[in-house]
Amino acid sequence: MNKSLRKAVIAGNWKMNKTPAEAKELITAIAPLVKDAGCEVVACTPYVDLWAAQEAAKGTNIQIGAENCHWAKSGAFTGEISADMLASMDVNIVIIGHSERRQYFGETDVTVHDRTRAALDAGLTVILCVGETLEQREQGITSELVALQTKIALGGVSAEELKRVIIAYEPVWAIGTGKTATAEQANEVCHVIREVIAELYGKAAADGITIQYGGSMNAANAAELLAQPDVDGGLIGGASLKPQDFAAIVEAATKG
Ligand code: 13P
Repeated sequence: MNKSLRKAVIAGNWKMNKTPAEAKELITAIAPLVKDAGCEVVACTPYVDLWAAQEAAKGTNIQIGAENCHWAKSGAFTGEISADMLASMDVNIVIIGHSERRQYFGETDVTVHDRTRAALDAGLTVILCVGETLEQREQGITSELVALQTKIALGGVSAEELKRVIIAYEPVWAIGTGKTATAEQANEVCHVIREVIAELYGKAAADGITIQYGGSMNAANAAELLAQPDVDGGLIGGASLKPQDFAAIVEAATKG
């Protein structure tokens, strides 16, 4: 499979960090460091930071995304944000199904599917997160589990819509723990996901889809991970809050 057929995407997931003023500062610090990136650069921020981050990113190559959206178009869902609301702000990329949503906020494969559907219907690009816990890895069910998560999330998604889907493989045990999957482990599971896409949509779609790795990716380990044949980018937590580190990962993806 030819890696040059797909776009490399480095996306920051800021999680619950940064006020709007701090978001502006962070984007302003990152922008000059990534201006020559040979990959797409995204920063997914808390909802309240979106506007400030967009303002700071104007005229740069940084796209601003969100970290979640609801499955309904509108209604009695106190505290939630719809995909249409994001689209109306010209936010056109959103993370769905992050393991922290699954772990702490009752997200299931079905709600991940529903949110993916809503985001695609609103014209957004989805960064769909899948990944196993340590217990699941030790049980030897990583491949089946990740395949199932992918299939359920993408149920009913057309081949045309799939062009607006990026899949992020994020082993839960590697998130925020400093424990990175080895480059081989990351590649192995990204490859499994690509095979699932081939099974569902055919080889051309599988060759074209961007599959990221996420989980303690940093300036030191990014190059090795991103050099893997099935790893097309990264979803970056902690290191996305540090301009130099994030820029080093973007640089690695540019070479990778
Ligand atoms: P860390 O890079 O902090 O491990 O977080 C990864 C992640 O969850 C990105 O979505």
